[in-house]
Amino acid sequence: MRILVIGGGAREHALCRSFSLDPEVTEVHCAPGNAGIAEVATVHTVDALDGDAVAALAQDPRVAADLVVVGPEAPLVAGVADVLRERGVPVFGPSAEAARLEGSKAFAKDVMAGAAVPTARSYVCTTPDEIDTALDAFGPPYVVKDDGLAAGKGVVVTEDVEAARAHALGCVAPGADGEAGRVVIEEFLDGPEVSLFAVTDGTTVVPLQPAQDFKRALDADEGPNTGGMGAYSPLPWADPKLVDEIQQTVLQPTVDELARRGTPFSGLLYAGLALTSRGVRVIEFNARFGDPETQAVLARLKTPLAGLLHAAATGRLADFPPLRWSEDAAVTVVVAAHNYPGTPRTGDVIEGLDEVAAQDAPGAYVLHAGTKRDEQGQVVSAGGRVLSVTATGETLTTARDRAYTALTRLHLPGSHHRTDIASKAAEN
Ligand code: AMP
Ligand code: GLY
Repeated sequence: MRILVIGGGAREHALCRSFSLDPEVTEVHCAPGNAGIAEVATVHTVDALDGDAVAALAQDPRVAADLVVVGPEAPLVAGVADVLRERGVPVFGPSAEAARLEGSKAFAKDVMAGAAVPTARSYVCTTPDEIDTALDAFGPPYVVKDDGLAAGKGVVVTEDVEAARAHALGCVAPGADGEAGRVVIEEFLDGPEVSLFAVTDGTTVVPLQPAQDFKRALDADEGPNTGGMGAYSPLPWADPKLVDEIQQTVLQPTVDELARRGTPFSGLLYAGLALTSRGVRVIEFNARFGDPETQAVLARLKTPLAGLLHAAATGRLADFPPLRWSEDAAVTVVVAAHNYPGTPRTGDVIEGLDEVAAQDAPGAYVLHAGTKRDEQGQVVSAGGRVLSVTATGETLTTARDRAYTALTRLHLPGSHHRTDIASKAAEN
């Protein structure tokens, strides 16, 4: 099988790595990729938001993709998977209509209401009066979410009513296009968060293993929200029946509801959940693999990935054999650029990659996110999240130690990372 992956982060590096280790895969292509992906795949340039351009690349004889896997949300929301489907190219990723589950928080709430899926109570507001009524109705802590895509940064959770109000007013203020925005204000959910991914063909739903993400920039969950600073899997503290419960109460009803509406969801359904004192609640849905959870989850998946995603893309998941998982634990730690998640500094030289690749830090490997090669051929930073240092081990403690040992071999001036990824879970 020949595969084309769209995207260029550590999630896509993890996908390309899995494909490169898959005996059924003959060639891995990626666009736009990054410096690390270029070592396991042939990289191409493409405007990832342009469906015609992506389809042309997929059908270019040099690529001749049997399967296209779309990594990030923006191309999905822009309808890239629709164009590929129209051209008869098997694609793993939902249509633009179904991707609204991620692209619009108000749409996601509507689908959940239709499917009786448990989530935070919420109001969708467009005016200052509606905003004040909603903030009063819930009280602190306030949860205020921009309706549209915001790369993990559109959500403010705060005790400060003025800060909540200011963010909400910013969300509804008319944008450059003159259109007023919408904001979702919702009930605060307490309890630990879990990310659960499911592969689906629009009918059959195959959950992967759960993971936990660390969204705040600093140790002890301090600092601003980010795209994610680290992850681990499995969750030793979770009830073994948790995945079945989420499958029955969240994943299958959501997939069924979208099919019922005539917009089936085929691809990766990502449920971000809070395990509250009153039960499981959906915090958000995403329409693609999570980053950095994918780095940890795929490190443990023994079933070859290409066949699984191809079965989903071609509507044949019902016949797919049960997934096989490694007993090992996996931990991934994100190395972020100076000033991430603000305006990250780029162009810093990354040192130590060869040492980790030479297994100077056994059991660990480095997945690249924002990296590229400069004119001298050196690998330099080119984005906010720069590397995902990933390791496996018999226990979370071993996997953690290996990831953090590998991290000591790496050097990126001004970078920062969390030192407490999986530390509490490893004590279980
Ligand atoms: P989202 O983009 O919806 O995933 O939100 C980003 C982060 O904000 C989540 O991972 C949570 O940590 C936090 N968050 C979102 N919604 C809620 C909520 N209703 N209650 C508490 N925390 C929330
Ligand atoms: N890790 C959070 C996300 O992928 O949205």
